[in-house]
Amino acid sequence: MPNTRLPRRISVSDIASSKGRTPIVCLTAYTAQMAKILDPHVDLLLVGDSIGMVVYGMDGTIGVTVDMMINHGRAVVRGAARACVVVDLPFGSYESTPTQAFETASRVVAETGATAIKLEGGVIMADTVRYLSERGVPVVGHVGLRPQAARATGSFRVHGRNDDEAQRIREDARVVAEAGAFAVVLENVVEPLARTITDDIAVPTIGIGASPACDGQILVTDDLAGLFTDFKPRFVKRYADLAGTLETAVTAYADDVRTRRFPGPEHVTTPSDKVLKLG
Ligand code: KIV
Repeated sequence: MPNTRLPRRISVSDIASSKGRTPIVCLTAYTAQMAKILDPHVDLLLVGDSIGMVVYGMDGTIGVTVDMMINHGRAVVRGAARACVVVDLPFGSYESTPTQAFETASRVVAETGATAIKLEGGVIMADTVRYLSERGVPVVGHVGLRPQAARATGSFRVHGRNDDEAQRIREDARVVAEAGAFAVVLENVVEPLARTITDDIAVPTIGIGASPACDGQILVTDDLAGLFTDFKPRFVKRYADLAGTLETAVTAYADDVRTRRFPGPEHVTTPSDKVLKLG
């Protein structure tokens, strides 16, 4: 008999126990179809608030709403049977109090079926991370460059270059990990510091523009695939040019339509078709 069992979903403890062992492969996903394609290859899928720029054409993450995150989170959970799905809490939905964060996070987890949430912030968010973790909401922390704060501070820049800042980021990561986060994203943190933090803390670090020494790596899928081309951070490695491929396909389609080469006889519905032919 064929094995029809679904693969088991990667859990928080699977991710946590990868620390210092196998590198954790993480990518963003915002749709069911993308999640389905990525799922066999990754350990963790993040429904990131980068969706604001990548999908909604915003100039940052500030306008992203909880409802957007829930709708896309639900789609990604539908598309991914295996990966651990984490959903970002958007700006303004968790920073005031631990109770506000719990209300948002519990709604996100219950309505999407995702395993965990991610929130930005270090020392200042430690009580919230503890509050959520103790109440059964698994948390991924995010320190270093924090896109939600970067608009206010204007600091889309490398983090941890001087000693004071390096010390602060090290403390942020340590405190968030000790408060119960099961992994911590290090964004745009300079190489020696990201390595030191990875050695310092007991939970996996997930680097983006950080260090190969991190326990895992994450990129925005649309950057990696060359689909989002408005700008390209230096730390992005492009593995494909899907925007170029799509442009070539659409140019050919437009040409076919204008010259009546499409639809061909095989694409036309005939009186003998009883049901819609698929594939
Ligand atoms: O929103 C996002 O996509 C992120 C990752 C890039 C870490 O936070």
